[in-house]
Amino acid sequence: MPNTVSPNPSDPTIAASDALYKRGIRVIPGATHTLAKGAGQYVRGVAPKFVQRGRGGRVWDVDGNEYLDMTMGVGPIVLGYAEPAVDAAIRAQLEDGISFSQTHPLEVEVAERVAALVPGAEMVRFGKNGCDVTTAAVRVARAFTGRSKVLCCGYHGWHDWYISVTDRNRGVPAAVADLTHTIAYNDLASVEDALDDDTACVILEPVTFEEPRPGFLAGLKRLCEERGALLIFDEMWTGFRLALGGAQERFGVTADLACFSKAIANGMPLSVLTGRADVMRLFEREVFFFTTFGGEALSLAAAAATMRELEVRRVPERLDRLGGELRDGYNALVAELGLTFTKCVGYGCRSLVTFSAVGVAASADPLVMKSFVQQELVRHGVLWTGFHNLCAAHEASDVAYLLGAYRAILPALGRALEEGRLPQALRGEPVEPVFRRTTNFHVKPQPKVVKAHG
Ligand SMILES: Cc1ncc(COP(=O)(O)O)c(C=O)c1O
Repeated sequence: MPNTVSPNPSDPTIAASDALYKRGIRVIPGATHTLAKGAGQYVRGVAPKFVQRGRGGRVWDVDGNEYLDMTMGVGPIVLGYAEPAVDAAIRAQLEDGISFSQTHPLEVEVAERVAALVPGAEMVRFGKNGCDVTTAAVRVARAFTGRSKVLCCGYHGWHDWYISVTDRNRGVPAAVADLTHTIAYNDLASVEDALDDDTACVILEPVTFEEPRPGFLAGLKRLCEERGALLIFDEMWTGFRLALGGAQERFGVTADLACFSKAIANGMPLSVLTGRADVMRLFEREVFFFTTFGGEALSLAAAAATMRELEVRRVPERLDRLGGELRDGYNALVAELGLTFTKCVGYGCRSLVTFSAVGVAASADPLVMKSFVQQELVRHGVLWTGFHNLCAAHEASDVAYLLGAYRAILPALGRALEEGRLPQALRGEPVEPVFRRTTNFHVKPQPKVVKAHG
């Protein structure tokens, strides 16, 4: 019998998952195309590796086990899997075609809709992946300012200009890497320090899990204006989740350019660059950003339907409320249980459970703590990587179920830590570090030290 969303007596059968992984690793480097979905993010031997289908806030793995999904496709699924209104729009468009030989009316209609919802969206360009539009934003900022350097904070995709600041930077020429530097979030002084006459732009996620300090985002905008650099918000996660108009609406600060993807099309591949018309007009000729699938109509139809549903059903407000209850419920639970090594941080639409080596966990590895919680949640029929990426299909009963599961699991984690037997309590291999949390993520690769001789 496959596992369901309930306290199951044993771990799920994952034979079909393991068999697919064995095939996949032979033909696909790492057996995945999205790092955050890969086998390394799940306890090997316990958690499934391949998901077959989804509906609402639930998914079924290839062995037929059912899970309450808390990752939601790593962000895009904001309404729910197999959302009827969006799927109907995709089907209707499919009847008429997918990609065409001339521009499609949906390109104009969806651009107008985005312009109406997103503050500062005087003009709009579409791409497919998040990194299409962050990279286009950086290029147009360089063209507009005539400058070269980029300051960034957060994750912005796989392209050379950005990935050079991480420890997965092989293959990026030094000449490119030397132009990008990182800044510290909520630290205006670090930006002031780094901004110079050759800085084209500051690009950052306006918020992740730490609240922006009062005046931080407005201060950034002022500083960029004063120094002649453009401010770019990377709203991959905040767009259409934190508010319909994203972080710009929520915090009342409008950047020069803003980048969106993920939630705008409920799972279809679409990304969006918005911003000042005087900057965006450079894309007409001087700055080249065109791509075959930019006007692909199924994704645009999905985006039109998704934006409509988000607005009519006031989804961002719902996510804020329900997700806020989940975050606060988690923190109240760990306070009641006297567990100081874990907490839940972030916003209703996206929060994160963190673990740290304090108290009884002083000598424990936070990744092993996270792995223990994940393996026990798998047994409860919850697919979880530490995030609560809520969607509109998640119900109050799902939040109550998850909090009940935490209530059953966290005391066992506390006991295993106290008794020093956490590693033995794991039934599989622990999860690997999330890419963005590698220790030198925000550090420029160190230049090779050239020793002076003689
Ligand atoms: C904040 C942020 N920016 C950019 C990207 C890159 O988007 P994509 O993977 O679609 O290229 C991501 C992806 O997760 C992201 O989280």
